[in-house]
Amino acid sequence: MRVIEVKDYQQMSNRAAEYIIQKVVQNPSIKLGLATGGTPMGTYKSLIEDHQKNGTSYQKVTTFNLDEYIGLSGNNKNSYRYFMNDQLFNHIDINKAKTNIPSGIAADFQEECHRYENLIARHGGVDLQILGIGANGHIGFNEPGTSFRSTTHIVNLADSTIQANARFFSRIEEVPTQAITMGISTILKSKEILLLVSGEQKKDALFRLLNGEINESFPASVLKNHPYVTIIADKVAIADLKVNC
Ligand code: GLP
Repeated sequence: MRVIEVKDYQQMSNRAAEYIIQKVVQNPSIKLGLATGGTPMGTYKSLIEDHQKNGTSYQKVTTFNLDEYIGLSGNNKNSYRYFMNDQLFNHIDINKAKTNIPSGIAADFQEECHRYENLIARHGGVDLQILGIGANGHIGFNEPGTSFRSTTHIVNLADSTIQANARFFSRIEEVPTQAITMGISTILKSKEILLLVSGEQKKDALFRLLNGEINESFPASVLKNHPYVTIIADKVAIADLKVNC
């Protein structure tokens, strides 16, 4: 894993956006894997600014998001579909029909899991997956204990994840308790991964990722098995940690 240390959240966002833009310019039909949460919001803002200033085009780009809350439709402000439209897709020239997010209101969720997994495979897989990390090491919504062999599946969210994500909802009771997420093997099949890490609350997770063992009790540790991972982390998250990778 390659670790790029930057000063702060803003620099992380700019650097990540530059990275993504370069890949999109090199391959205008790129398949991008996208993440939600607070971490990539600044990156998406930078992508929008670049699109407006420099005209980088996303017309041929296809996207696959990691996950969606069960029970929330795309019109719900807390759904990840709404988030992606609001934070990125509505402000660039992407074809919405090429933006894919698992459905949180499918009639048959087992079927939806198969559909999503097959859809990614049919497109030849994700070229560049953007990832954040949960404080407990979750990636997508793959909570500790998830099998490294998992494909797209339904999860029960950990209490700590519900608490961490409650900041986006008006009341904690409104946070869904389940989600549909790409599995760990789905994520690992991406040709390249860009992990973004920012802030004090991610310090322990980053330390464990860089220095701990590869173990299902810490989902992000599986990234050490991937040949092409870049981490962009800010100073606060890296702190004065020794990096053994
Ligand atoms: C959320 C998302 C993840 C995200 C992580 C960190 O629950 N499902 O994809 O990476 O938790 O979120 P944040 O960036 O808000 O800290």
